[in-house]
Amino acid sequence: MEAFNYSVKSWWWCCLLGFCILFASAASFPVPETLVAEGETHYHEFVVQATPVKRLCKTHTKITVNGQFPGPTLEVRNGDTLVVKVVNRARYNVTIHWHGVRQLRTAWADGPSFITQCPIQPGGSYTYRFTIEGQEGTLWWHAHSSWLRATVYGALVIKPRAGTSYPFATPKREFPILLGEWWTSNPIDVINQALRAGAAPNVSDAFTINGQPGDLYNCSRKDTVIFPVNSGETNLLRIINSAMNQELFFTIANHRLTVVGIDASYTKQLATSVIMLGPGQTTDILITTNQPAGRYYMAARAYATAPNVPFDNTTTTAILEYQSIPCPATKSRSKSKSKSKCTSSQPVFPFIPAYNDTQTVTAFTTSLRSPANIRAKVPTKVDVSLFFTVGLGLNPCNPGRTCQGPNGTNFTASMNNVSFVLPSTLSVLQAFYRGVNGVFTTNFPPFPPTQFDYTGNVSRALWTPTRGTETYRLKFGSTVQLVLQGTNIFAAENHPIHLHGHDFFILAEGFGNYNPRTDPAKFNFVDPPLRNTVGVPVGGWAVIRFVADNPGAWLMHCHFDSHLTWGLAMVFLVDNGVGELETLEPPPADLPRC
Ligand SMILES: *[C@@H]1O[C@H](CO)[C@@H](O)[C@H](O)[C@H]1NC(C)=O
Ligand SMILES: *[C@@H]1O[C@H](CO)[C@@H](O)[C@H](O)[C@H]1NC(C)=O
Ligand SMILES: *[C@@H]1O[C@H](CO)[C@@H](O)[C@H](O)[C@H]1NC(C)=O
Ligand SMILES: *[C@@H]1O[C@H](CO)[C@@H](O)[C@H](O)[C@H]1NC(C)=O
Ligand SMILES: *[C@@H]1O[C@H](CO)[C@@H](O)[C@H](O)[C@H]1NC(C)=O
Ligand SMILES: *[C@@H]1O[C@H](CO)[C@@H](O)[C@H](O)[C@H]1NC(C)=O
Ligand SMILES: *[C@@H]1O[C@H](CO)[C@@H](O)[C@H](O)[C@H]1NC(C)=O
Ligand SMILES: *[C@@H]1O[C@H](CO)[C@@H](O)[C@H](O)[C@H]1NC(C)=O
Ligand SMILES: *[C@@H]1O[C@H](CO)[C@@H](O)[C@H](O)[C@H]1NC(C)=O
Repeated sequence: MEAFNYSVKSWWWCCLLGFCILFASAASFPVPETLVAEGETHYHEFVVQATPVKRLCKTHTKITVNGQFPGPTLEVRNGDTLVVKVVNRARYNVTIHWHGVRQLRTAWADGPSFITQCPIQPGGSYTYRFTIEGQEGTLWWHAHSSWLRATVYGALVIKPRAGTSYPFATPKREFPILLGEWWTSNPIDVINQALRAGAAPNVSDAFTINGQPGDLYNCSRKDTVIFPVNSGETNLLRIINSAMNQELFFTIANHRLTVVGIDASYTKQLATSVIMLGPGQTTDILITTNQPAGRYYMAARAYATAPNVPFDNTTTTAILEYQSIPCPATKSRSKSKSKSKCTSSQPVFPFIPAYNDTQTVTAFTTSLRSPANIRAKVPTKVDVSLFFTVGLGLNPCNPGRTCQGPNGTNFTASMNNVSFVLPSTLSVLQAFYRGVNGVFTTNFPPFPPTQFDYTGNVSRALWTPTRGTETYRLKFGSTVQLVLQGTNIFAAENHPIHLHGHDFFILAEGFGNYNPRTDPAKFNFVDPPLRNTVGVPVGGWAVIRFVADNPGAWLMHCHFDSHLTWGLAMVFLVDNGVGELETLEPPPADLPRC
């Protein structure tokens, strides 16, 4: 180890002296294990393109990857490297975000438009390269530019590191289950129309399971997704909420769900009949096919918390179908199109909680636990203590325009009263790396600029946030505690807050205003869940801790795309640490230009 340190240092000295290439090519010094890609490298090409897609009886042109909707599932092992060349043949700017991937030292591959890169413009391409380090379970990828992610998304399945296995019996079958949200209109038109009108965007026309609405919707019966199983198996379902603006309950008729992982971290096993996922979250569950052979619906439906705000109240379904199902006497006459042997038998329908069943959600989220071996990793000392409010707001309408928000206002959203504005000339990361002034400030407030009764009757004088591209800078390795406090401004709501580039521990959550004197007593330092997206309870708070051990510019935002568009976001800048392993890699040569 000593010898190696020396070698790295001398290598850097040579670089400084300008002999870098010469020396590096002749060098044969030992390389630390963590720098060697011990896994496999997977190469993919994603062509972003307009594709006709028919749903709910109507064919429309949607933006897809490789003509597939949902896009391709990527399957790797922990320790593998992905090299994905994204070619933009669509008429929109696009970027791809690898949701939940730590991107250690590779922030350039994270993807949010104008945060870590300029968008890939029509006709352009960019190759994302990154290694999966220490993550196992289910993540996903999606567009991170305007509302393209409505149709540009897919699963990222991370199997155990080569030579290792799951911390549970190897499942017989595995199914990625992507919950999506479908608009008959072009989703880009939906958000642009809302912004022009200052209104809330139109709610979706359907939810989908692996791209299909399911047979409770018109014209969808023959396309309903069927998951074939046999009796007596234990199967792994990798459930991903890829919806745009809606938290969702998910359940399967008559089958117990055993949670074994969330956001690509294993959990203690948790048995339940229903789960809830916010957009961005994933949940791995085992199900044992111990029911009478038959057909059982799996269903997803809204968990909606904002009072008097319209939402898509439809239900998407797919069918868990036992292959050994005895067919009824009136067997289907034609063998031709039907994918199922016994389409005539009506599947069993599950119980789904009421749209506003916060009690069920709280019981579920507060029961999630990391495995016992996590304890040593939970930070007990705090270097940086932060408190961010998260919520909506109302702006006056632009002069000379009429707005369709409440009483003629224009919807907005903010953290600590700052509504985030994306830069347009350079990404935050490029400006940070090169020291370019004028793209962002480092003034993001660590505490709300005004303290008020966040979950009470908030005075109208406080409803209008400021605007800015404000970041908060962190030293490498600092331990951050962050209280996320929901506000009642306009409407209290459960907000799914996602942090890029880091996983965080959720130490506690609760309702009302966070109390710094009494609530720390509730912190779980033993086995708190580790996630990249936390649902901040409606009219309540959540406390998270993470170590800023990844240099770069990391967006933190509400994963409802309507709220992100309105500015419910901020950026953490994490400095380099010491040495190569704590330093952001140089930008790739093909990084798109603005
Ligand atoms: C949004 O909904 C309104 C009212 O139903 C409709 O007139 C409008 O065309 C919709 N906008 C888009 C982009 O679909
Ligand atoms: C479904 O189709 C029926 C019959 O064509 C129609 O009356 C109904 O309005 C449709 N429902 C929706 C939600 O489109
Ligand atoms: C869904 O919302 C529509 C429109 O607000 C309403 O008419 C309908 O009754 C609702 N359906 C359910 C199942 O709540
Ligand atoms: C949930 O909605 C039902 C009716 O839709 C209402 O009666 C009930 O009070 C609501 N519960 C909560 C906790 O808001
Ligand atoms: C509403 O606010 C957004 C910024 O969040 C702005 O782009 C848009 O122009 C505003 N619309 C109107 C009509 O004021
Ligand atoms: C709109 O104005 C009415 C009448 O002044 C008021 O009662 C209501 O609270 C306002 N709503 C919002 C959301 O501002
Ligand atoms: C909230 O406060 C305003 C005055 O700031 C008052 O007019 C209104 O009645 C209050 N609303 C409730 C529900 O207490
Ligand atoms: C946010 O800032 C604006 C502008 O300074 C101010 O009017 C408003 O009261 C502030 N609101 C909060 C919640 O701090
Ligand atoms: C696409 O990105 C470029 C910068 O890379 C920007 O100038 C342009 O405005 C963007 N187009 C749209 C429609 O956002």
